[in-house]
Amino acid sequence: MQIEEGLLLLKKNCYACHNPNTTSHGEIIAPPIQGIKEHYLRAYPSREAFSSAMVSFVGNPIEEKALMKGPVKRFGLMPKPPIPEEELQKIIAYFQDNKLETPAWWADHTNGGH
Ligand code: HEC
Repeated sequence: MQIEEGLLLLKKNCYACHNPNTTSHGEIIAPPIQGIKEHYLRAYPSREAFSSAMVSFVGNPIEEKALMKGPVKRFGLMPKPPIPEEELQKIIAYFQDNKLETPAWWADHTNGGH
C-alpha cells in the first residue's frame, strides 16, 4: 500500500529530526511535521504547488527556499536527506492525505500563538 509505504519512509528518513513524540517544545531539534504541513498548505493551497515546493526544498535545502525562517535560525538549515525523489514523493503524498501525529505539547503551542 502506498500510504503505508509513505509513513514508513517518513519514519525512516525524517522522524530522526521531525519526531512527533517529544515532550516539550524546548526538546525539539526541528519543527514538527504538522507545523510544516500547515505552513505549506497556507502558502501552497493546490496539491501540485505544495508537492513541488516541498520536493524543491527537501531535494536541495537552502535558506532562500525555506518557508519558515524562524526554524532555520533556531535549528540551522536542514541537511539534504539521502533519499530518491520517488520516495520523497510518497512521503509528500502521505503528508497530504493523512492526519499527522502531533506532539503532546502541540495544542498549547498553537493555541498560545507564536
Ligand atoms: C538531520 C535532521 C533532519 C532530517 C533527517 C530531516 N529534516 Fe526536515 N528539517 C530539519 C530542520 C532543522 C528544519 C528547520 C530548518 C530548515 O527549514 O532548514 C527542517 C525543515 C523542514 C521543512 C520546512 C522547510 C521550510 O520551507 O521552511 C520541510 C518541508 C522538511 N524539513 C521536510 C523533511 C522531510 C520530508 C524529511 C525526510 C525525508 C526531513 N525533513 C528530514 C531537520 C531535518
